[in-house]
Formats: sequence, C-alpha cells, structure tokens
Amino acid sequence: MKNLLTTVLFSFLTLSSVLSNEKEIVRVETNDLSMIFTAETDGKIVYHYWGEKVNNITPVLDRRFKNQPDTNDELVPQLYPAYGGRYYLNPALKLTHEDGVLTTDLVYVGSKTKVLDSNRTETVISLKDKIYPVFVDVKFIAFRAENIISQSVSITHQEKKGIQVENIASAYIPLHAESYYLTHFNGTWAAEMQMEEEMLTHGVKVIESKKGVRTTQSENPSFILSLNAKAQEDSGDVYAGCLAWSGNYKLSFELDETGSLNILGGMNPFAALYNLKASEKIETPEMILTYSNRGKGQITRNFHDWARKYSLAHGDELRPILLNSWEGAYFSFNEKTLTDMMDDAAGFGVEMFVLDDGWFGNKYPRNGDNAGLGDWQVNKTKLPRGINYLADYAVNKGLKFGIWIEPEMVNPDSELAKKHPEWIVKSGKRDILPMRNQWLLDLSNPKVQDFVFNTFDEVLAMSSNISYVKWDANRHVDNAGSDYLAKNEQSHFWYEYVKGLYSVYDRIRAKYPDVMIQLCSSGGGRLDYGALKYHDEFWASDNTNALDRIYIQYATNTFFPAIATGSHVSTSPNHQTGMIIPIKFRFDVAMSGRLGLELQPKDIVGDDHGFAKKAIETYKQIRPIVQFGDLYRLVSPYDVNSWASHMYVSKDKKQSVFFAYSLKYHGRTTYFDTRLKGLNPDKNYKVTEINSRSGHSSFNGNGKVFSGDYLMKIGVNLNIGNPFDSAVLLITEQ
Ligand code: GLA
Repeated sequence: MKNLLTTVLFSFLTLSSVLSNEKEIVRVETNDLSMIFTAETDGKIVYHYWGEKVNNITPVLDRRFKNQPDTNDELVPQLYPAYGGRYYLNPALKLTHEDGVLTTDLVYVGSKTKVLDSNRTETVISLKDKIYPVFVDVKFIAFRAENIISQSVSITHQEKKGIQVENIASAYIPLHAESYYLTHFNGTWAAEMQMEEEMLTHGVKVIESKKGVRTTQSENPSFILSLNAKAQEDSGDVYAGCLAWSGNYKLSFELDETGSLNILGGMNPFAALYNLKASEKIETPEMILTYSNRGKGQITRNFHDWARKYSLAHGDELRPILLNSWEGAYFSFNEKTLTDMMDDAAGFGVEMFVLDDGWFGNKYPRNGDNAGLGDWQVNKTKLPRGINYLADYAVNKGLKFGIWIEPEMVNPDSELAKKHPEWIVKSGKRDILPMRNQWLLDLSNPKVQDFVFNTFDEVLAMSSNISYVKWDANRHVDNAGSDYLAKNEQSHFWYEYVKGLYSVYDRIRAKYPDVMIQLCSSGGGRLDYGALKYHDEFWASDNTNALDRIYIQYATNTFFPAIATGSHVSTSPNHQTGMIIPIKFRFDVAMSGRLGLELQPKDIVGDDHGFAKKAIETYKQIRPIVQFGDLYRLVSPYDVNSWASHMYVSKDKKQSVFFAYSLKYHGRTTYFDTRLKGLNPDKNYKVTEINSRSGHSSFNGNGKVFSGDYLMKIGVNLNIGNPFDSAVLLITEQ
C-alpha cells in the first residue's frame, strides 16, 4: 500500500513538473542535508547541489552560466558522468559496447523513492544510454537522523555479445570553491591510519590500493574534503566519504580548469576489466557520504552514530574487556599456559579470553607462522583436551571465550595446500610468491567460499561456549589470477574475490547472528565499512605501543567509533617499538577505545598489579560513555605541540570522560589547558580525576563543581608536561 502511494505520489510529481514545464527536481534528504538533482530538457540529469539543507530552490537556474564561446558551459556536472560527448574529465562510467563503440550517453529515465522505515529513504535514479540497451541505476539511501547518505550504482544491459566495463564508480561529487583541502589516511603495518592534509592543486590526486586484501595498509578508502581552509573541528564546510569495499579501490580528486573539484570514488579499475553478459549485473560498493557546515567534529559524530546503528554488528551492546593471548604467548603454549592466563585474567576483572594463533595443525603443527594454516583441527600435542575444554574452563571462570582463525589463507606446508593446489591464487605458471610464509585462497571459487564458511562453522562446532572469533588475513594479493575463472575473466578476480568474501560473511551472519567477530588483517589492514558491517569490532593495529596508538586511534576514530576500536594494554618495553611507557599511560590510551589486554598477565607485577586491576574496574564505569557517547576532539596529536586530548559525552550530556596525554617533554614554563566541548552550558558538572596513581593529581580543580559554560569557555588546566604524563577526568552532571 505504502509502495503504491509512493508510486502515485512520484507519478504525480513527475506529471506536475512536466505540465508546468519546470525541470524535474530529485531530492535526497536527511534532517539537515540535501542532495539535489535536476532533470534537464536535453534528457540529462544534473548534479545541482550537495550540502546543507535547502528548502526552496525554485526557480532552478543553470549552475554554470557564462554564455561565452568555449567556456565549457556544456560541462555542467552530471549526476553520473559517462565517457563520451563533451565529457573529458575522468568519468564515473567507461565501457565498450559490443560493436566496439567506446562512448556512452546516459539520459534520465525516472526516479523512484521508497520509504524503508521512519529513518531511511531509498531513492533510485534510473539512467539509460540514448542508443544502446544499457541501464544504470544510481541508488541513494538517506539516513535521516544521522545525516548520512549512501550511494551505489548498478549496471545491466541487453547487448547480445556483452559489454566490457572498464570503470564503474560508486559516486561522483562535483564541488566548487576557492580552494580544497584533502585529508587522507595512509598506512602500513604497525602504522595504520596516518593522517595527512594537503591543499589540492590542478590535476588529479589519487588515493588507491591495488593490494586486493589488506588494502588499508596503503591508504584507507576514506577522506575528508574541506572547502576554502584546512578542516577545522567545529567550523567550516566539510565533506567526507568512506567507501564500503574491502578490495582494490580508487578515490580521485580532479581539480579542473573551471576551478571545480570532481571527486570520484569506487572500485579500482586497474586490471579489472569486466566482461558483462546480457542480463548480468554489476553492483558497486556503497560510498558512505556526509557533510557538515560545522567542521569535521560533526562529520565524525555522524559516522559514529550511523555505524553503531547500521554498520556494525551489535552496535548497541557494550563490548567485553578481553585478554588476547598473542603478545603474551605467541605460538608457545600448552593447555596450562592458557588456563593460567585465564585464571589471572579473571583475577584482574577481565571478561573474555581470546586464544590467538597457534592452536591448530597436526601433520604440520602451527608452532610458527611457517606451517599449518588451512588445517583447522586442534593441535593434539599442545591442547590434548581440545578447544571444548578451554572454552568450558573460561566459562567456569566467568569469562567468555574467543578464538582466532585466518580462513582465507594457507601455508604451503599444510595438508590443505597439498590437497587443493587449484584453490590457490596464482598467475598461470608463475611462481606463487609467499608472504609471511603463506598463500591466498581464491575466494572467487565457490568451493573455496564453502571451505571458508565450513572452517568457521566447524571451529564454532568445537564448543558451544565460543562467543567470539578473531578473523585475520595476513597477506595481500600479488601475481593475481584464478584457476577457477575463465581465461577471459581473469580480470574479474578483484571484484569476485570481494563478492565471494562478502557472500561467506553473509552466510556466517545468517547462521551466527550472535557471535562477536573481530575484523583483523595484520592489525588494521582491512578497515572499511564493507567488511565492518559483519563484525563487532576491528583490531586497529599490531602496534600496541601507546604513543603510536594515540596517532593511529585519533585518525581511525575520525570515521570508526571507539566501541569497535580494539585497543589493548601490552607489556613494557613494547614488543614492536622497544619503548618503555608507564602503565597508567598505557591504560589511559587503551581505555579511550574498547579496552583489552595483550600481554602475559603474570608480567604485571608490584604496584602495577593493583593499578591495572583498579583501571579495569574504572573502565567498566566509563565504558558506556566511551562506547556509546559522542566524540569531541580537543587537541590533535598531529598538531605541533605534542599534546593530545579528546572526550566522550553521553547522549543525554549528563556524563563525560576526558582524556589528555603529553607526548614529549614540555619545558617547565609551558602548560596544558583546553576548553571542553559538548556539555550543557546551563548545567553544573563535578569534575573528578580518575585512573590516577595514588597520591598524584594532575588537576587542581579535582572534585569541584563547575558550570558547563565554565568548562567549555575557560576550560581545564592540567599538570601534564613530561613524556607519557596523562590524565582522565570524569565529568558528571550534578
Ligand atoms: C596478525 C594479527 C595479530 C596476531 C597475529 C597472529 O599479525 O594482527 O594480532 O593475531 O596475526 O599470527
């Protein structure tokens, strides 16, 4: 009935605009934002506007009026520019027709709007080639309250011999301003999400990955684009996007001779020509978009709200504090090592134990990273009583139990590699190049998809007490190729691998909706909303050094919320960097994400023992604020002064937790102060320093009551000036 009403309404709107000879207007809108497209008399659909909500846009004028010869007036930005006609910039769509014609001319067919629920509206704008039976649908979902709009595209056709799709972007965004500042996030192992900002100059700036797997260990497929000035926290026109895709991607920013910026984002067309048969469909990943005229702080809060509700498993449930066995035991353990760790974890108030790598393989035991991957049977020498025994032991201690798998991968030294050489990604007869001593399984092959699903299924069948799975992927693709795909479909590999992975995730989530799953790929190598929606959280980095984590988490949390950010206290000296950092600083950093431990708990000795136990208890108190609250960034570690600070504020603004860190020695005379944000100016708040070492206070107003107005205008001054000084304040409405 609702659909019928929508269609009737839609037809009425279309008819009324035709009758009044006005341009048809298609709006995609959230509470505060509008995207506006106009259907022109020449059949084109123009990208008219994207930004703050506009209520009345009539009369609709042409956007680029110059009326002089050779000024490219015809280059009015289209909703979805295809290669052909006068369009000479990088196109959103490029394909070759069955007769060899290289150009495409898309015209508007119509649009349909469907109310999905009280918060979400879907709009599909249909386009068609003027001459060829090629059909393109551009789909938007507007998330009203979160001010997020997702965009994706699908293509079908009826050309008998098929078409070759060279590029099909998820979104095209044209902007016009005096200048453009791009923030992007490069990464590598142990140094993921390093934030960089630059002013764009004429030409094309490209952010991309061609790694297939572990793509975000090049750059993350997310960006912030600020108009006319560097992106500020609380002011300025800022656009942002996250591509929800775990494979090769490309984001390009083309500043053209009209002074416009043309943003394209989608799957990477590199070596990815797709031969699309008649009636087959390609569906692009979604580009998740938002905008704010109040700076990037609001962008972050939009993404976090949206992610908790729509793109994270169990986004409304608090995460348990866990002890992961990796840095505490690596591959060297037996049953007792693990049960001792569980005993100690329970003593600290930890809530879950996760058994990392090293528990499987018999003929090729997994005693290092050189053997056993693919053979997902419990190692009988190390764990004679199996996983069931360990999981039961954990549960009897009051802990949940989790386990590590890496089901897309195989060591050459494994039973699986010997049995199924045809399942391994390879480029014809060339050598298969190992990375971390392992090869990649070909997820474009449905049999491999079954194997990966069955691995998960069989591991879960080892015990009904497994509540959590850490899913790892420790290499990327090189020498790409597939024994399964046909000769002329080898370039489909990149697309089919990711689709295969997602179809396995779909099957897993259909069967195991309640299991917690961590997204890991050598740390944060697969951090994107395409994969994240199947997971509860991600492992942000194998670098557990608290100082480095401040930079990684600051940038990561620009798009991805704290509830999902696995953030663990590890031992000192740190295993990756050798750095010696006091336990308070390590906890203060880890407690601003999803707290966990990544160490041998027996190594926490002396005063540190009591501190750690108390900190875990404290985290339980602040956990709802950190995991469900609004993030306000106060001082960036990327700024010159080497302090960092941020706070979380509960949705009702009654509680807040504030973190501040000193990253180096600051001279005696310099001091740290910052204004708080996000509180209610008209309420009074008690400010209490928490997680402090006994007898030490960094805040001279500790325990006093201040107005929200005071805290947000005058702020707090803290005595944190030495390297690895830090402070945590609990701010509670009175
Ligand atoms: C990857 C992960 C680590 C750990 C190891 C195990 O590096 O990121 O956390 O699980 O694999 O081999």
